[in-house]
Amino acid sequence: MERMSFPRWVLLLGLLGYFLLLFGFDCVEGLGVNWGTQATHKLPPKTVVQMLKDNGIQKVKLFDAEESTMFALAGSGLEVMVAIPNDQLAVMNSYERAQNWVKRNVTRYNFNGGVNIKYVAVGNEPFLSSYNGSFLNVTFPALQNIQRALNEAGVGDSIKATVPLNADVYNSPENNPVPSAGRFRSDINQLMTQIVQFLDANKAPFTVNIYPFLSLYGNDNFPFDYAFFDGVSNPIVDAATGIQYTNVFDANFDTLVAALRAAGYGDMTILVGEVGWPTDGDKNANNGNAYRFYNGLLPRLASNRGTPLRPGYIEVYLFGLIDEDAKSIAPGSFERHWGIFRYDGQPKFALDLSGQGQNKLLVPAQNVQYLPNKWCTFNPNAKDLSKLADNINYACTFSDCTALGYGSSCNNLDANGNASYAFNMYYQIQNQDDMACDFQGLATVTTQNISQGTCSFIIQIASPAFSIRPSLIALVFLTVFTFVATNLHTSL
Ligand SMILES: *[C@@H]1O[C@H](CO)[C@@H](O)[C@H](O)[C@H]1NC(C)=O
Ligand SMILES: *[C@@H]1O[C@H](CO)[C@@H](O)[C@H](O)[C@H]1NC(C)=O
Ligand SMILES: *[C@@H]1O[C@H](CO)[C@@H](O)[C@H](O)[C@H]1NC(C)=O
Ligand SMILES: *[C@@H]1O[C@H](CO)[C@@H](O)[C@H](O)[C@H]1NC(C)=O
Ligand SMILES: *[C@@H]1O[C@H](CO)[C@@H](O)[C@H](O)[C@H]1NC(C)=O
Repeated sequence: MERMSFPRWVLLLGLLGYFLLLFGFDCVEGLGVNWGTQATHKLPPKTVVQMLKDNGIQKVKLFDAEESTMFALAGSGLEVMVAIPNDQLAVMNSYERAQNWVKRNVTRYNFNGGVNIKYVAVGNEPFLSSYNGSFLNVTFPALQNIQRALNEAGVGDSIKATVPLNADVYNSPENNPVPSAGRFRSDINQLMTQIVQFLDANKAPFTVNIYPFLSLYGNDNFPFDYAFFDGVSNPIVDAATGIQYTNVFDANFDTLVAALRAAGYGDMTILVGEVGWPTDGDKNANNGNAYRFYNGLLPRLASNRGTPLRPGYIEVYLFGLIDEDAKSIAPGSFERHWGIFRYDGQPKFALDLSGQGQNKLLVPAQNVQYLPNKWCTFNPNAKDLSKLADNINYACTFSDCTALGYGSSCNNLDANGNASYAFNMYYQIQNQDDMACDFQGLATVTTQNISQGTCSFIIQIASPAFSIRPSLIALVFLTVFTFVATNLHTSL
Protein backbone atom coordinates (compact mmCIF):
# COMPACT_ATOMS: atom_id res chain seq x y z
CA MET A 1 0.00 0.00 0.00
CA GLU A 2 2.56 2.48 1.08
CA ARG A 3 4.77 1.79 -1.90
CA MET A 4 1.84 2.24 -4.23
CA SER A 5 0.87 5.61 -2.77
CA PHE A 6 4.33 7.04 -3.44
CA PRO A 7 3.73 8.00 -7.08
CA ARG A 8 0.52 9.73 -6.06
CA TRP A 9 2.46 11.98 -3.75
CA VAL A 10 4.79 12.80 -6.58
CA LEU A 11 1.82 13.59 -8.77
CA LEU A 12 0.29 15.78 -6.05
CA LEU A 13 3.54 17.63 -5.55
CA GLY A 14 3.75 18.16 -9.29
CA LEU A 15 0.21 19.49 -9.35
CA LEU A 16 0.94 21.78 -6.42
CA GLY A 17 3.96 23.17 -8.25
CA TYR A 18 1.82 23.65 -11.33
CA PHE A 19 -0.82 25.58 -9.41
CA LEU A 20 1.82 27.71 -7.72
CA LEU A 21 3.11 28.63 -11.17
CA LEU A 22 -0.40 29.15 -12.47
CA PHE A 23 -1.26 31.59 -9.72
CA GLY A 24 1.76 33.71 -10.29
CA PHE A 25 4.10 32.64 -7.49
CA ASP A 26 6.75 32.66 -10.15
CA CYS A 27 9.24 35.09 -8.70
CA VAL A 28 11.95 34.70 -6.08
CA GLU A 29 10.01 35.12 -2.82
CA GLY A 30 9.77 38.82 -2.08
CA LEU A 31 11.88 39.92 -5.04
CA GLY A 32 11.52 43.62 -5.74
CA VAL A 33 12.74 46.06 -8.36
CA ASN A 34 13.71 49.72 -8.35
CA TRP A 35 11.53 51.83 -10.61
CA GLY A 36 13.41 55.02 -11.45
CA THR A 37 11.87 57.57 -13.79
CA GLN A 38 14.74 59.83 -14.89
CA ALA A 39 14.01 59.28 -18.56
CA THR A 40 13.23 61.77 -21.32
CA HIS A 41 10.45 59.49 -22.56
CA LYS A 42 8.63 57.48 -19.93
CA LEU A 43 6.39 54.51 -20.46
CA PRO A 44 2.92 55.21 -19.08
CA PRO A 45 2.90 54.20 -15.37
CA LYS A 46 -0.04 51.83 -15.94
CA THR A 47 1.98 50.04 -18.64
CA VAL A 48 4.88 49.62 -16.21
CA VAL A 49 2.65 48.30 -13.43
CA GLN A 50 1.15 45.75 -15.86
CA MET A 51 4.68 44.74 -16.86
CA LEU A 52 5.58 44.19 -13.20
CA LYS A 53 2.50 42.02 -12.72
CA ASP A 54 3.08 40.09 -15.97
CA ASN A 55 6.52 39.15 -14.66
CA GLY A 56 5.36 38.17 -11.18
CA ILE A 57 7.23 41.02 -9.49
CA GLN A 58 5.48 41.85 -6.21
CA LYS A 59 7.54 44.65 -4.71
CA VAL A 60 8.68 47.97 -6.09
CA LYS A 61 10.97 50.66 -4.74
CA LEU A 62 10.48 54.23 -5.94
CA PHE A 63 12.67 57.34 -5.69
CA ASP A 64 9.77 59.66 -4.91
CA ALA A 65 6.02 59.38 -4.46
CA GLU A 66 4.97 60.96 -7.71
CA GLU A 67 1.19 61.06 -8.12
CA SER A 68 0.83 59.39 -11.51
CA THR A 69 3.04 56.50 -10.36
CA MET A 70 1.07 56.13 -7.14
CA PHE A 71 -2.29 56.16 -8.92
CA ALA A 72 -1.05 53.48 -11.31
CA LEU A 73 0.02 51.35 -8.34
CA ALA A 74 -3.30 51.80 -6.54
CA GLY A 75 -5.22 48.57 -6.35
CA SER A 76 -2.33 46.53 -7.79
CA GLY A 77 -1.50 44.87 -4.48
CA LEU A 78 2.20 45.47 -5.11
CA GLU A 79 4.24 46.32 -2.02
CA VAL A 80 5.73 49.79 -2.40
CA MET A 81 8.65 51.71 -0.96
CA VAL A 82 8.11 55.43 -1.50
CA ALA A 83 10.99 57.88 -1.06
CA ILE A 84 12.01 61.34 0.00
CA PRO A 85 14.78 62.69 -2.27
CA ASN A 86 17.96 64.01 -0.62
CA ASP A 87 17.17 67.60 -1.51
CA GLN A 88 14.05 67.43 0.69
CA LEU A 89 15.79 66.00 3.77
CA ALA A 90 16.53 69.43 5.21
CA VAL A 91 12.90 70.53 5.19
CA MET A 92 11.90 67.24 6.86
CA ASN A 93 13.85 68.48 9.88
CA SER A 94 10.67 70.36 10.63
CA TYR A 95 8.19 67.93 12.21
CA GLU A 96 5.28 69.81 10.72
CA ARG A 97 6.68 69.43 7.21
CA ALA A 98 7.36 65.74 7.81
CA GLN A 99 3.81 65.27 9.05
CA ASN A 100 2.51 67.03 5.97
CA TRP A 101 4.67 64.87 3.68
CA VAL A 102 3.34 61.70 5.29
CA LYS A 103 -0.21 62.98 4.89
CA ARG A 104 0.23 63.88 1.20
CA ASN A 105 2.37 60.95 0.09
CA VAL A 106 1.54 58.06 2.41
CA THR A 107 -1.72 58.11 4.36
CA ARG A 108 -3.53 59.67 1.41
CA TYR A 109 -3.19 56.31 -0.37
CA ASN A 110 -4.22 54.29 2.68
CA PHE A 111 -7.70 53.20 1.64
CA ASN A 112 -9.32 50.06 0.27
CA GLY A 113 -7.94 49.75 -3.27
CA GLY A 114 -5.17 52.22 -2.47
CA VAL A 115 -1.40 51.71 -2.44
CA ASN A 116 0.18 49.02 -0.30
CA ILE A 117 3.03 51.13 1.13
CA LYS A 118 5.50 49.21 3.30
CA TYR A 119 8.45 51.55 3.59
CA VAL A 120 9.41 55.19 3.32
CA ALA A 121 12.98 55.65 2.10
CA VAL A 122 14.37 58.74 3.79
CA GLY A 123 16.95 60.02 1.32
CA ASN A 124 18.95 58.02 -1.20
CA GLU A 125 22.55 57.14 -0.29
CA PRO A 126 22.84 60.44 1.62
CA PHE A 127 26.23 59.60 3.13
CA LEU A 128 28.01 58.93 -0.16
CA SER A 129 31.53 60.35 0.21
CA SER A 130 31.12 62.32 -3.01
CA TYR A 131 28.37 64.42 -1.34
CA ASN A 132 31.08 65.90 0.94
CA GLY A 133 28.93 65.45 4.05
CA SER A 134 26.11 67.67 2.72
CA PHE A 135 23.40 65.44 4.24
CA LEU A 136 25.17 64.30 7.41
CA ASN A 137 23.27 66.68 9.68
CA VAL A 138 19.82 66.41 8.15
CA THR A 139 19.27 62.69 7.53
CA PHE A 140 18.78 61.36 11.06
CA PRO A 141 16.34 64.11 12.17
CA ALA A 142 14.38 63.54 8.95
CA LEU A 143 14.24 59.79 9.66
CA GLN A 144 13.03 60.44 13.21
CA ASN A 145 10.36 62.89 12.10
CA ILE A 146 9.03 60.68 9.35
CA GLN A 147 8.74 57.60 11.57
CA ARG A 148 7.12 59.68 14.29
CA ALA A 149 4.63 61.08 11.76
CA LEU A 150 3.88 57.53 10.55
CA ASN A 151 3.38 56.39 14.14
CA GLU A 152 1.12 59.29 15.00
CA ALA A 153 -0.91 58.72 11.84
CA GLY A 154 -1.53 55.20 13.14
CA VAL A 155 0.34 53.38 10.35
CA GLY A 156 3.73 52.98 12.06
CA ASP A 157 3.21 49.26 12.72
CA SER A 158 2.96 48.42 9.03
CA ILE A 159 4.97 51.25 7.40
CA LYS A 160 8.60 51.71 8.38
CA ALA A 161 10.99 54.53 7.61
CA THR A 162 14.49 53.48 6.56
CA VAL A 163 17.53 55.10 4.91
CA PRO A 164 18.91 53.40 1.79
CA LEU A 165 22.66 53.63 2.31
CA ASN A 166 25.57 53.07 -0.03
CA ALA A 167 27.94 50.29 0.96
CA ASP A 168 30.73 52.78 1.67
CA VAL A 169 29.19 53.63 5.07
CA TYR A 170 31.15 50.62 6.33
CA ASN A 171 34.49 49.01 5.60
CA SER A 172 37.24 46.82 6.98
CA PRO A 173 40.63 48.20 7.98
CA GLU A 174 43.23 48.14 5.22
CA ASN A 175 45.55 45.97 7.31
CA ASN A 176 42.78 43.41 7.91
CA PRO A 177 40.47 43.56 4.87
CA VAL A 178 38.14 40.70 5.86
CA PRO A 179 34.36 40.79 6.44
CA SER A 180 34.54 39.94 10.16
CA ALA A 181 36.54 43.12 10.74
CA GLY A 182 33.74 45.28 9.30
CA ARG A 183 32.96 48.55 11.08
CA PHE A 184 30.99 51.68 10.22
CA ARG A 185 33.15 54.32 8.55
CA SER A 186 35.05 56.07 11.33
CA ASP A 187 33.92 59.60 10.36
CA ILE A 188 30.23 58.62 10.72
CA ASN A 189 30.45 55.80 13.26
CA GLN A 190 28.57 57.68 15.97
CA LEU A 191 25.84 58.83 13.59
CA MET A 192 25.45 55.33 12.14
CA THR A 193 25.15 53.86 15.63
CA GLN A 194 22.36 56.33 16.49
CA ILE A 195 20.53 55.52 13.27
CA VAL A 196 20.82 51.79 13.85
CA GLN A 197 19.53 52.21 17.43
CA PHE A 198 16.55 54.14 16.11
CA LEU A 199 15.78 51.62 13.35
CA ASP A 200 15.94 48.82 15.91
CA ALA A 201 13.61 50.61 18.34
CA ASN A 202 11.08 50.99 15.51
CA LYS A 203 11.55 47.46 14.11
CA ALA A 204 12.63 49.01 10.81
CA PRO A 205 15.21 47.39 8.51
CA PHE A 206 18.71 48.55 7.62
CA THR A 207 18.76 49.21 3.86
CA VAL A 208 21.99 48.90 1.90
CA ASN A 209 22.87 49.09 -1.81
CA ILE A 210 25.54 46.60 -2.91
CA TYR A 211 27.25 46.90 -6.29
CA PRO A 212 29.77 44.25 -7.35
CA PHE A 213 29.96 46.06 -10.70
CA LEU A 214 31.36 49.13 -8.97
CA SER A 215 34.02 47.02 -7.26
CA LEU A 216 35.20 46.13 -10.73
CA TYR A 217 34.68 49.54 -12.33
CA GLY A 218 37.84 51.56 -12.40
CA ASN A 219 39.87 48.89 -10.56
CA ASP A 220 41.69 46.68 -13.03
CA ASN A 221 43.29 44.73 -10.17
CA PHE A 222 39.94 43.53 -8.87
CA PRO A 223 39.62 39.75 -9.46
CA PHE A 224 37.02 39.67 -12.24
CA ASP A 225 35.29 36.39 -11.30
CA TYR A 226 34.84 37.60 -7.72
CA ALA A 227 32.17 40.03 -8.99
CA PHE A 228 30.01 37.05 -10.03
CA PHE A 229 28.64 33.96 -8.30
CA ASP A 230 30.14 31.01 -10.15
CA GLY A 231 33.26 30.50 -8.11
CA VAL A 232 36.87 31.70 -8.06
CA SER A 233 40.17 29.86 -7.98
CA ASN A 234 41.44 31.81 -4.96
CA PRO A 235 38.69 32.41 -2.40
CA ILE A 236 39.37 35.10 0.18
CA VAL A 237 39.74 33.43 3.57
CA ASP A 238 38.57 35.31 6.64
CA ALA A 239 41.14 34.11 9.16
CA ALA A 240 39.01 35.10 12.16
CA THR A 241 36.05 32.96 11.11
CA GLY A 242 37.67 30.47 8.72
CA ILE A 243 35.01 31.37 6.15
CA GLN A 244 36.02 31.28 2.47
CA TYR A 245 34.47 34.03 0.36
CA THR A 246 34.03 33.38 -3.36
CA ASN A 247 32.11 36.50 -4.32
CA VAL A 248 32.14 40.16 -3.35
CA PHE A 249 28.39 40.32 -2.69
CA ASP A 250 28.68 37.90 0.26
CA ALA A 251 31.87 39.55 1.49
CA ASN A 252 30.30 43.00 1.35
CA PHE A 253 27.06 41.93 3.01
CA ASP A 254 28.97 40.18 5.81
CA THR A 255 31.12 43.26 6.35
CA LEU A 256 27.85 45.03 7.17
CA VAL A 257 26.74 42.17 9.45
CA ALA A 258 30.04 42.54 11.33
CA ALA A 259 29.64 46.33 11.56
CA LEU A 260 26.12 45.87 12.97
CA ARG A 261 27.41 43.29 15.48
CA ALA A 262 30.13 45.68 16.59
CA ALA A 263 27.46 48.35 17.13
CA GLY A 264 25.45 45.88 19.21
CA TYR A 265 22.73 45.11 16.66
CA GLY A 266 23.95 41.91 15.00
CA ASP A 267 20.43 40.60 14.40
CA MET A 268 19.03 43.67 12.68
CA THR A 269 17.08 42.91 9.50
CA ILE A 270 19.06 43.90 6.41
CA LEU A 271 17.30 44.74 3.20
CA VAL A 272 19.28 45.06 -0.05
CA GLY A 273 17.81 48.21 -1.58
CA GLU A 274 19.72 47.98 -4.86
CA VAL A 275 21.76 45.33 -6.61
CA GLY A 276 22.24 44.80 -10.34
CA TRP A 277 24.48 45.04 -13.37
CA PRO A 278 24.44 47.63 -16.20
CA THR A 279 24.52 46.67 -19.88
CA ASP A 280 26.26 49.56 -21.62
CA GLY A 281 28.54 52.53 -21.06
CA ASP A 282 31.63 50.62 -19.86
CA LYS A 283 33.80 47.73 -21.06
CA ASN A 284 32.32 45.48 -18.32
CA ALA A 285 28.78 46.69 -18.81
CA ASN A 286 27.14 44.43 -21.37
CA ASN A 287 24.31 41.91 -21.71
CA GLY A 288 26.69 38.96 -21.31
CA ASN A 289 28.03 40.08 -17.94
CA ALA A 290 24.58 41.15 -16.76
CA TYR A 291 23.25 37.71 -17.71
CA ARG A 292 26.06 36.05 -15.80
CA PHE A 293 25.50 38.23 -12.74
CA TYR A 294 21.72 37.88 -12.49
CA ASN A 295 21.75 34.21 -13.27
CA GLY A 296 24.11 33.71 -10.37
CA LEU A 297 22.28 36.04 -8.02
CA LEU A 298 18.67 34.91 -8.59
CA PRO A 299 19.13 31.17 -7.93
CA ARG A 300 21.03 32.06 -4.75
CA LEU A 301 18.19 34.27 -3.58
CA ALA A 302 15.64 31.59 -4.46
CA SER A 303 17.55 29.01 -2.40
CA ASN A 304 17.36 31.28 0.68
CA ARG A 305 20.91 30.35 1.57
CA GLY A 306 21.82 33.92 2.45
CA THR A 307 25.44 34.71 3.26
CA PRO A 308 27.91 32.90 5.54
CA LEU A 309 27.24 35.25 8.47
CA ARG A 310 23.53 35.62 7.77
CA PRO A 311 22.01 32.43 6.36
CA GLY A 312 18.39 32.56 5.18
CA TYR A 313 16.05 34.79 3.27
CA ILE A 314 17.21 38.25 2.17
CA GLU A 315 14.77 40.88 0.90
CA VAL A 316 16.26 42.29 -2.32
CA TYR A 317 15.36 44.99 -4.84
CA LEU A 318 17.03 44.73 -8.23
CA PHE A 319 18.42 47.88 -9.82
CA GLY A 320 16.82 48.64 -12.00
CA LEU A 321 13.68 48.11 -13.95
CA ILE A 322 14.03 50.38 -17.02
CA ASP A 323 16.94 52.33 -18.54
CA GLU A 324 16.95 56.03 -17.66
CA ASP A 325 18.47 58.26 -20.36
CA ALA A 326 18.32 61.44 -18.28
CA LYS A 327 20.27 60.16 -15.26
CA SER A 328 23.41 62.00 -14.23
CA ILE A 329 26.50 60.33 -15.63
CA ALA A 330 28.81 61.86 -13.02
CA PRO A 331 29.49 58.36 -11.59
CA GLY A 332 30.03 56.94 -15.11
CA SER A 333 28.35 56.44 -18.50
CA PHE A 334 26.90 53.11 -17.33
CA GLU A 335 24.43 55.01 -15.10
CA ARG A 336 21.85 55.19 -17.90
CA HIS A 337 21.91 51.46 -18.59
CA TRP A 338 20.96 49.63 -15.40
CA GLY A 339 17.57 48.39 -16.62
CA ILE A 340 16.66 44.73 -16.97
CA PHE A 341 14.41 46.32 -19.61
CA ARG A 342 15.37 48.82 -22.31
CA TYR A 343 13.96 52.35 -22.36
CA ASP A 344 10.89 50.99 -24.21
CA GLY A 345 10.13 48.10 -21.86
CA GLN A 346 11.71 45.41 -24.04
CA PRO A 347 13.78 42.79 -22.17
CA LYS A 348 17.53 42.87 -22.84
CA PHE A 349 18.60 39.34 -21.97
CA ALA A 350 17.22 36.05 -20.70
CA LEU A 351 16.39 36.01 -17.02
CA ASP A 352 14.46 33.75 -14.68
CA LEU A 353 13.12 35.80 -11.80
CA SER A 354 12.01 32.61 -10.06
CA GLY A 355 15.68 31.65 -9.75
CA GLN A 356 15.06 28.21 -11.26
CA GLY A 357 17.47 28.82 -14.13
CA GLN A 358 14.72 28.51 -16.79
CA ASN A 359 16.15 31.50 -18.57
CA LYS A 360 13.88 33.10 -21.08
CA LEU A 361 13.05 36.67 -21.99
CA LEU A 362 10.86 38.54 -19.52
CA VAL A 363 7.40 39.66 -20.61
CA PRO A 364 7.80 43.02 -22.39
CA ALA A 365 5.70 46.13 -21.88
CA GLN A 366 2.44 45.79 -23.82
CA ASN A 367 1.07 48.13 -26.53
CA VAL A 368 4.06 50.47 -26.54
CA GLN A 369 3.50 53.38 -28.93
CA TYR A 370 6.56 54.43 -30.92
CA LEU A 371 7.29 57.49 -33.03
CA PRO A 372 7.33 56.77 -36.81
CA ASN A 373 10.21 54.75 -38.35
CA LYS A 374 12.37 57.80 -39.11
CA TRP A 375 16.01 58.30 -38.21
CA CYS A 376 18.31 61.30 -38.40
CA THR A 377 21.59 60.55 -40.16
CA PHE A 378 24.77 62.30 -41.25
CA ASN A 379 24.20 63.88 -44.66
CA PRO A 380 26.78 62.34 -47.00
CA ASN A 381 26.39 65.31 -49.39
CA ALA A 382 27.34 67.86 -46.76
CA LYS A 383 30.23 69.98 -48.03
CA ASP A 384 31.36 72.09 -45.10
CA LEU A 385 32.47 69.72 -42.36
CA SER A 386 34.19 72.37 -40.26
CA LYS A 387 31.22 72.58 -37.88
CA LEU A 388 30.78 68.80 -37.51
CA ALA A 389 32.49 68.44 -34.12
CA ASP A 390 30.52 71.35 -32.65
CA ASN A 391 27.25 69.89 -33.87
CA ILE A 392 28.00 66.41 -32.52
CA ASN A 393 28.92 68.01 -29.23
CA TYR A 394 25.64 69.91 -29.14
CA ALA A 395 23.60 66.81 -30.00
CA CYS A 396 25.31 64.79 -27.29
CA THR A 397 25.01 67.54 -24.67
CA PHE A 398 21.22 67.46 -25.00
CA SER A 399 20.74 63.73 -25.55
CA ASP A 400 22.40 60.46 -24.54
CA CYS A 401 25.60 59.43 -26.34
CA THR A 402 26.85 57.09 -23.59
CA ALA A 403 26.78 54.12 -26.00
CA LEU A 404 29.56 55.75 -28.07
CA GLY A 405 32.19 55.51 -25.34
CA TYR A 406 35.09 53.09 -24.97
CA GLY A 407 33.94 49.47 -24.63
CA SER A 408 30.30 50.42 -25.27
CA SER A 409 27.83 49.08 -27.84
CA CYS A 410 28.46 51.82 -30.45
CA ASN A 411 32.18 52.31 -29.96
CA ASN A 412 33.08 50.65 -33.27
CA LEU A 413 31.32 53.16 -35.53
CA ASP A 414 33.33 55.18 -38.04
CA ALA A 415 33.36 58.98 -37.92
CA ASN A 416 30.18 59.31 -40.01
CA GLY A 417 28.50 56.67 -37.89
CA ASN A 418 29.40 58.62 -34.75
CA ALA A 419 27.81 61.74 -36.21
CA SER A 420 24.68 59.85 -37.24
CA TYR A 421 24.37 58.26 -33.82
CA ALA A 422 24.58 61.62 -32.04
CA PHE A 423 22.21 63.32 -34.47
CA ASN A 424 19.65 60.53 -34.19
CA MET A 425 19.68 60.49 -30.38
CA TYR A 426 19.00 64.23 -30.37
CA TYR A 427 16.30 63.93 -33.06
CA GLN A 428 14.49 61.18 -31.15
CA ILE A 429 14.63 63.06 -27.85
CA GLN A 430 13.10 66.02 -29.70
CA ASN A 431 10.24 63.74 -30.80
CA GLN A 432 11.51 63.72 -34.41
CA ASP A 433 10.94 67.43 -34.83
CA ASP A 434 12.15 68.28 -38.38
CA MET A 435 14.07 71.24 -36.99
CA ALA A 436 16.01 68.83 -34.78
CA CYS A 437 17.57 67.07 -37.78
CA ASP A 438 19.38 69.82 -39.60
CA PHE A 439 22.63 70.55 -37.76
CA GLN A 440 23.63 73.29 -40.19
CA GLY A 441 22.98 71.07 -43.20
CA LEU A 442 25.06 68.22 -41.81
CA ALA A 443 22.08 65.94 -41.15
CA THR A 444 19.12 64.53 -43.00
CA VAL A 445 16.07 62.37 -42.16
CA THR A 446 15.93 58.81 -43.47
CA THR A 447 13.35 56.01 -43.31
CA GLN A 448 16.13 53.40 -43.57
CA ASN A 449 17.02 51.64 -40.32
CA ILE A 450 20.65 52.71 -39.90
CA SER A 451 21.42 50.41 -36.95
CA GLN A 452 24.80 48.68 -37.29
CA GLY A 453 25.85 45.46 -35.58
CA THR A 454 25.66 45.81 -31.77
CA CYS A 455 24.78 49.48 -32.14
CA SER A 456 21.06 50.14 -32.07
CA PHE A 457 19.84 53.41 -33.60
CA ILE A 458 16.65 53.76 -31.62
CA ILE A 459 13.18 55.07 -32.34
CA GLN A 460 11.85 56.79 -29.24
CA ILE A 461 8.55 55.96 -27.68
CA ALA A 462 5.67 58.35 -28.20
CA SER A 463 5.14 60.00 -24.86
CA PRO A 464 5.23 63.56 -23.69
CA ALA A 465 8.91 64.55 -23.77
CA PHE A 466 10.16 66.42 -20.77
CA SER A 467 11.00 69.95 -21.76
CA ILE A 468 14.71 70.43 -22.16
CA ARG A 469 16.51 73.59 -23.04
CA PRO A 470 16.69 73.54 -26.84
CA SER A 471 12.93 73.14 -27.21
CA LEU A 472 12.42 76.00 -24.77
CA ILE A 473 14.78 78.16 -26.82
CA ALA A 474 12.88 77.19 -29.95
CA LEU A 475 9.63 78.12 -28.23
CA VAL A 476 10.95 81.52 -27.15
CA PHE A 477 12.28 82.08 -30.66
CA LEU A 478 8.93 81.16 -32.20
CA THR A 479 7.05 83.41 -29.79
CA VAL A 480 9.32 86.38 -30.51
CA PHE A 481 9.17 85.65 -34.23
CA THR A 482 5.35 85.47 -34.19
CA PHE A 483 5.19 88.65 -32.14
CA VAL A 484 7.49 90.54 -34.52
CA ALA A 485 5.69 89.19 -37.59
CA THR A 486 2.28 90.14 -36.20
CA ASN A 487 3.43 93.65 -35.33
CA LEU A 488 5.04 94.12 -38.70
CA HIS A 489 1.79 93.06 -40.30
CA THR A 490 -0.33 95.52 -38.26
CA SER A 491 2.01 98.44 -38.86
CA LEU A 492 1.94 97.92 -42.60
C1 LIG B 1 4.30 64.29 -2.29
O1 LIG B 1 3.00 64.61 -2.70
C2 LIG B 1 2.88 65.90 -3.26
C3 LIG B 1 1.39 66.15 -3.49
O2 LIG B 1 0.87 65.17 -4.34
C4 LIG B 1 3.69 66.00 -4.53
O3 LIG B 1 3.63 67.29 -5.07
C5 LIG B 1 5.14 65.67 -4.20
O4 LIG B 1 5.90 65.65 -5.37
C6 LIG B 1 5.24 64.35 -3.48
N1 LIG B 1 6.58 64.17 -3.00
C7 LIG B 1 7.45 63.33 -3.60
C8 LIG B 1 8.80 63.27 -2.99
O5 LIG B 1 7.17 62.66 -4.55
C1 LIG C 1 32.53 67.85 -3.28
O1 LIG C 1 33.83 68.41 -3.30
C2 LIG C 1 34.49 68.30 -4.54
C3 LIG C 1 35.92 68.79 -4.36
O2 LIG C 1 35.96 69.89 -3.51
C4 LIG C 1 33.71 69.09 -5.59
O3 LIG C 1 34.33 68.98 -6.85
C5 LIG C 1 32.29 68.54 -5.67
O4 LIG C 1 31.53 69.32 -6.56
C6 LIG C 1 31.62 68.53 -4.31
N1 LIG C 1 30.35 67.84 -4.42
C7 LIG C 1 29.25 68.28 -3.86
C8 LIG C 1 28.02 67.44 -4.09
O5 LIG C 1 29.18 69.30 -3.20
C1 LIG D 1 26.83 69.88 10.61
O1 LIG D 1 26.82 70.24 11.97
C2 LIG D 1 28.12 70.50 12.50
C3 LIG D 1 28.00 70.71 14.00
O2 LIG D 1 26.90 71.54 14.29
C4 LIG D 1 28.72 71.70 11.77
O3 LIG D 1 30.02 71.96 12.24
C5 LIG D 1 28.77 71.38 10.27
O4 LIG D 1 29.22 72.51 9.56
C6 LIG D 1 27.43 70.95 9.75
N1 LIG D 1 27.60 70.46 8.36
C7 LIG D 1 26.84 70.86 7.36
C8 LIG D 1 27.15 70.27 6.02
O5 LIG D 1 25.91 71.63 7.50
C1 LIG E 1 33.54 58.02 -32.32
O1 LIG E 1 33.25 58.62 -31.06
C2 LIG E 1 33.85 57.98 -29.95
C3 LIG E 1 33.32 58.63 -28.71
O2 LIG E 1 33.36 60.02 -28.77
C4 LIG E 1 35.38 58.08 -30.08
O3 LIG E 1 35.98 57.37 -29.03
C5 LIG E 1 35.80 57.45 -31.40
O4 LIG E 1 37.17 57.65 -31.60
C6 LIG E 1 35.04 58.08 -32.56
N1 LIG E 1 35.39 57.37 -33.80
C7 LIG E 1 35.79 57.99 -34.92
C8 LIG E 1 36.17 57.12 -36.05
O5 LIG E 1 35.85 59.21 -34.97
C1 LIG F 1 16.55 48.40 -36.70
O1 LIG F 1 17.50 47.37 -36.83
C2 LIG F 1 17.93 46.80 -35.61
C3 LIG F 1 19.07 45.86 -35.89
O2 LIG F 1 18.77 45.02 -36.93
C4 LIG F 1 16.75 46.12 -34.95
O3 LIG F 1 17.13 45.53 -33.72
C5 LIG F 1 15.66 47.15 -34.71
O4 LIG F 1 14.50 46.52 -34.19
C6 LIG F 1 15.28 47.87 -36.01
N1 LIG F 1 14.40 48.98 -35.68
C7 LIG F 1 13.20 49.13 -36.24
C8 LIG F 1 12.38 50.29 -35.78
O5 LIG F 1 12.77 48.37 -37.09
